[in-house]
Amino acid sequence: MPASVSLIGGTGRLGPGLALRLAAAGLPVVIGSRERRRAEERAAEIAGQVGALGGGAAIRGATNEEAAVAGNLVILTVPFEAQSELLPTLAGPLRGRVVVSTTVPVRFDPELGPVAVRVAEGSAAEQVAALLAGSRIVAGFHTVSSSHLSRLDRALDEDVIICGDDRDAKQQVGEVAGLIPGFRVVDAGRLGNAQHLEELTVLLLSINRLSHRSVGVRLTGL
Ligand SMILES: NC(=O)c1ccc[n+]([C@@H]2O[C@H](COP(=O)([O-])OP(=O)(O)OC[C@H]3O[C@@H](n4cnc5c(N)ncnc54)[C@H](OP(=O)(O)O)[C@@H]3O)[C@@H](O)[C@H]2O)c1
Repeated sequence: MPASVSLIGGTGRLGPGLALRLAAAGLPVVIGSRERRRAEERAAEIAGQVGALGGGAAIRGATNEEAAVAGNLVILTVPFEAQSELLPTLAGPLRGRVVVSTTVPVRFDPELGPVAVRVAEGSAAEQVAALLAGSRIVAGFHTVSSSHLSRLDRALDEDVIICGDDRDAKQQVGEVAGLIPGFRVVDAGRLGNAQHLEELTVLLLSINRLSHRSVGVRLTGL
């Protein structure tokens, strides 16, 4: 089990939601940002929420570079468009680390709604693997809603589908995700399957748009 988790670009929506749930579950979290102050402010907010529960682990803010070095397991929570410029600057600190790609390459068309964006490498996760050649890439958490994560009064009840080529890295990600009550981790095989996971999420976003809900995934028959 990794001793701590870092979130690169952890100041947005998914990052703080994961930070809240993981710290509440007892795992120390480092929130990374391009701006240390923004990360520290966000970390203090989340620490307040976790502290109100009367327990939980430490949360601190840092630059993305510091967060990359600090985390035993590193989760990328930046938009797809940010990857190609940001990740090469972190390739050194992230060398050898387990890095989780949560990215859904999607654009929101005013008429069509969510539309999948084609990625030359096959998927956003495979682009991460190309940009961070020395890291151990796992894809996961795509189908999880930040609005559900960020409400601790809301019980989670869904599957977290992961894929990757490194079994030990997948096991570590599974252990971390499994700390969050209500999550069941499902291994969906090789990193080449990340494209299907990312596109499944585009489908969920379309369902959200029509149903005015935030849906998740629960597989049957497992
Ligand atoms: N939101 C969800 O419910 C959800 C669910 C599943 C998966 N995801 C995936 O998770 C990722 C993050 O989603 P989000 O909704 O949290 O995104 P977001 O709020 O739009 O952005 C997250 C953070 O990324 C950093 N960032 C933005 N543009 C950047 C750039 N050009 N270069 C470097 N850093 C940049 C910002 O941090 P700083 O300004 O502090 O550096 C920002 O706070 C996305 O890839 C998304 O597909 C999201």
